[in-house]
Amino acid sequence: MDTVKVALIGFGTIGTGVAKILFGQRERIARAVGRNVELTRICDKDTQRDRGVKLPPDVLTDDLNAISNDSEISTVVELVGGIEPARSIILSLLKSGKNVVTANKALLATHGSEIFDAARSYNRSVSFEAAVGGAIPVINAISTALQANELRQLQAIVNGTCNFILTQMEEHGTNYATAVAEAQRLGYAEANPAMDVNGTDTVQKLAILAHLGFGVKLNWQDIPRTGIDTVEAIDIVYAKRLGYRIKLLAVAEATPDGIELYVSPTLVKIDTPVANVRDSFNIVRIVGDVAGDIVLQGRGAGELPTASAVVGDMIDTILGRAKITFDILNLWGKERPVTKIKNPAEICGKNYLRFLVEDRPGVLAEIAGILGRHKISIASVLQQQDNESDDSPATLIFMTHISREGDTIAAIDTIDSLACVRGKTVRMRVE
Ligand code: HSE
Repeated sequence: MDTVKVALIGFGTIGTGVAKILFGQRERIARAVGRNVELTRICDKDTQRDRGVKLPPDVLTDDLNAISNDSEISTVVELVGGIEPARSIILSLLKSGKNVVTANKALLATHGSEIFDAARSYNRSVSFEAAVGGAIPVINAISTALQANELRQLQAIVNGTCNFILTQMEEHGTNYATAVAEAQRLGYAEANPAMDVNGTDTVQKLAILAHLGFGVKLNWQDIPRTGIDTVEAIDIVYAKRLGYRIKLLAVAEATPDGIELYVSPTLVKIDTPVANVRDSFNIVRIVGDVAGDIVLQGRGAGELPTASAVVGDMIDTILGRAKITFDILNLWGKERPVTKIKNPAEICGKNYLRFLVEDRPGVLAEIAGILGRHKISIASVLQQQDNESDDSPATLIFMTHISREGDTIAAIDTIDSLACVRGKTVRMRVE
């Protein structure tokens, strides 16, 4: 059997998973490819740390040229992460004739045009299944199997770290900081976990999915984003009491006014499939005009699940399937039709509002009055005295009917400036 040589740049959590699969499952991979796949080089600046994988001699190097100058290596996996040096490395790999597989959502969401243009100009492919949803083949589903559809809606949990943290807080009462540390220990979190918890990672993944599925071309920074770092344990408790669970949702929806896009902690009814996705699992619900409702679910983070997607892309690249799809998709291409994005202020939805207020006559009416003047109708109210003392503040939970985002933000700004309000209002969307 012939041998095909591949290389890996970045020997962290996912890189280790890729090496484990390629060295541990040689026969399985050879059957899928029809050739032996040899991981000849792994490049990382740390060549000393023991990753628990036994490598043949000379595989591990800190010299990038050992990969770019080796003309026998046709496919390279980039798992460095972040913008630089990953961007320069990928551009230089493409220039030296390599096809690239990457899990780098931050880079693609930020410099997609540049990377994909470069790949087209050198007649190479870039594959990125592992960039969104870990093991879930969502990029593949949207790019190939669902091509007969115009997508109507996409609703997703695509950050394993956040989902893990929310699950730990809800089910075990774990405090936020401990849950973050555990997600890091398990290899779910980004190098900087702030990227997970502040919603950046989710919004970057949504930008990629929205481009792929809805033809939306935009800076990920322009998508409205709230992370789970705004969620307090008390909100999880109140949500449960009201029959909901809090999930960090990424949403894209086609409306007559353009594509609605946002990332936000959201109260979802406890008996729905999305509410029951636990731990590091992700879910992507896609509604196509002809396919109808589709749900993809699986492990969204971690060493082997993410490596599964990387190796799948590597196999597709070696076989030439990745190049066919890549050429047809014309990702971020100038000629690709672009869909209009809906003004975020016009997005409509229900909200959970938590106010911390003085407990005295007229306060409830004052807050309700401001909401009313902003055309926000209240669906239910829950009041909780924080403790028995007379001057202790009261917590008010309002569930609203559907209102405009712009009106909701304006109303909260006004309410937060009232003398009777003792803390910043917490707001979350309600599905
Ligand atoms: N930090 C990411 C997550 C890894 O938790 O989902 C997968 O992209």
